[in-house]
This record gives sequence, structure tokens and C-alpha cells, in this order.
Amino acid sequence: MKSKASAPGKIILFGEHFVVYGITAILCAINKRITVTTEKTSDNKISINSSVGNLVSSPKKPINEIDIQLRPFYYLADKMIQKYDNKSGMKITVDSEIPLGVGLGSSSACCVAGAASISGIFAKNSKEEILQMAIEAEKTIFPNTSGADCTVCTFGGLIKYDKQNGHSKIDSEPNFHLVIANSKMEHSTKEVVSNVKEFKEKNEEKFSDICNEETGLIDDVLICLKNNDLKGIGRDMIKNQEYLETIGVSNEKLRDMIELATKTSWGAKLTGAGGGGCIFALTDENNMEKTIQQLKKNNYECFSTKIDFTGLDTL
Ligand code: PMV
Repeated sequence: MKSKASAPGKIILFGEHFVVYGITAILCAINKRITVTTEKTSDNKISINSSVGNLVSSPKKPINEIDIQLRPFYYLADKMIQKYDNKSGMKITVDSEIPLGVGLGSSSACCVAGAASISGIFAKNSKEEILQMAIEAEKTIFPNTSGADCTVCTFGGLIKYDKQNGHSKIDSEPNFHLVIANSKMEHSTKEVVSNVKEFKEKNEEKFSDICNEETGLIDDVLICLKNNDLKGIGRDMIKNQEYLETIGVSNEKLRDMIELATKTSWGAKLTGAGGGGCIFALTDENNMEKTIQQLKKNNYECFSTKIDFTGLDTL
């Protein structure tokens, strides 16, 4: 018996870092997916095959003995085995189109597709139930996760999120292409978030002013998204990037990539924690190819994506 599911990655369009201090962030699912296939076995072993590592282990192990990248899968498999049939085992295979560890939601896509595929061996669950399992599984890697990434990977489309009100769907279906470029610079989200905290503590007034600017900007973005106003969204991306520069999460390489991409697109900014990871540019059919060529000519790895409106797909 086989159970297969796929989930999209995500990017943060606006509001990274400021979201930590209560400002609204806007995220969207992207049409690059992770697919998880689970087979029930009779050997009472959990086996995982993925590009981040392989594992064959018996159930009921303490989670901290499992390699961190594989924890969500092990956690979910062990939970289902204990709940439904403690004599069975599972073989889990993970296929990914999403570059790992660069802020494109690979871990949340793993958790969502993993929760659907692994639980699907024994029961049929709603998207809401799968989302709850995925968030639990994600906590084995990020104990303080807001759940925003798993939410957008489950339902697809665009969401807004803030700490006080949680997440809600943005009801627009803008038709743009995003060109995502990978700096190939390793970064630690935890470290960059802690540098921002330090910046804030040293510059309370300035930081509070930027947060107010960001709030106004997000209001404008929501209007532009509704109107499919690419020029307006691009202008807001350039503004948002300036705020991210001010709080010190950009660097020379990201700036170079953003400058190149801005020449041919509506706007560009970093996405996620910064300090490395990815940037993205907003394009349409007329300037997408030019933007890709511009980045590739300068030896930056990039690809184009659209918003994914499907979210979790059980196959
Ligand atoms: O790099 P990512 O995609 O995991 O994004 C980090 C987003 C931050 O706002 C910097 C941190 C957070 O917890 O929201």
C-alpha cells in the first residue's frame, strides 16, 4: 500500500524580521514542490530516503536521537505506527524541487507533504487536520514556529500573518512571475534574528519609525495585490528592501543581485532572514526572461516561479 502527497514551497513577499515585532508579513506558496511517498512495510522499521539523508531505525526512539533534518518524518511515522498498528513499519521517500535551507520553505513543505502522505497510510484527514500534524512535526526542528509557513504550504495562494491575529487568506490571484535567485551564501536565521534584536536595542527610536513605515507599506501592498498593480508592488519591494538594509540584514552580494534584477524587473528584494539565502524579482511575461538572463550572465543561479494556488495535493 502506497500513499503519496506533495506540497509547495513558499517565499516571504513582505515583512520578514518586522513580523517578529508584531508587523504583518505577506507570504505566498510557489510552484516548486516536495513530494513524499510512504509505503507500509511489515518489518516494524521506519526507513527514510531523502536528499538530506537516509535513515533506518526502529520506532519509539527519543526524537533528539534522530538527525534534525529527518525528525519531522520520523516523528510523524512513529506517531502513526503507535496510534494505528504498532507492528507495522514505513518506508518514506522524499523528492524535492525546492533548494534546501535557503528560506524557500523546504522544511514546511516536507512537514505538510509528510503529514499527508504518512497519515494517509491509515486514515483520510482534512487539510486542517494535516496542517495541525505538520505544525507539530515542524516543532521538532523549530520549537517556536508560528505555523505561518505550514499554513501557506497547505492551502496555497497568498496569506498575511501577524503575531496577534494569526494568519488569514488574501483573496487575490495576481498573475505575476517571480524570479528567485540563490546567493549560495549560508545563513543562520537564528543568528540574523538575534543581530536585528541587537540593532533594535541600540536604536529603539529608529527601529520603531521603520516599523511604522513598514506598517504603512504593507497596507499599500494589500491594495496593489488586489489591483494586480505590478508597478506598485515593485515600488513597495524596493522600499521594503531599504528598510531591511537599514536594520543590517543585507550584504554586498545580495545588494549586487538585487541591483541587477531591479534593472529589468518591477522590483527586487531579499526574502526570509537575509545574510545570505535568496532574493526575488517581480516580473511579468515581458521582462521575466530578461531578468533571468541578466542574473545568469553574472553567474547567479536563478529560476522563475508563479504563485501556487493548489497547496497540499494528495496523489
Ligand atoms: O528564512 P526564513 O524563510 O525562515 O524566514 C525567516 C523570517 C524571519 O522573519 C526573519 C524570522 C521569523 O521567525 O519570522
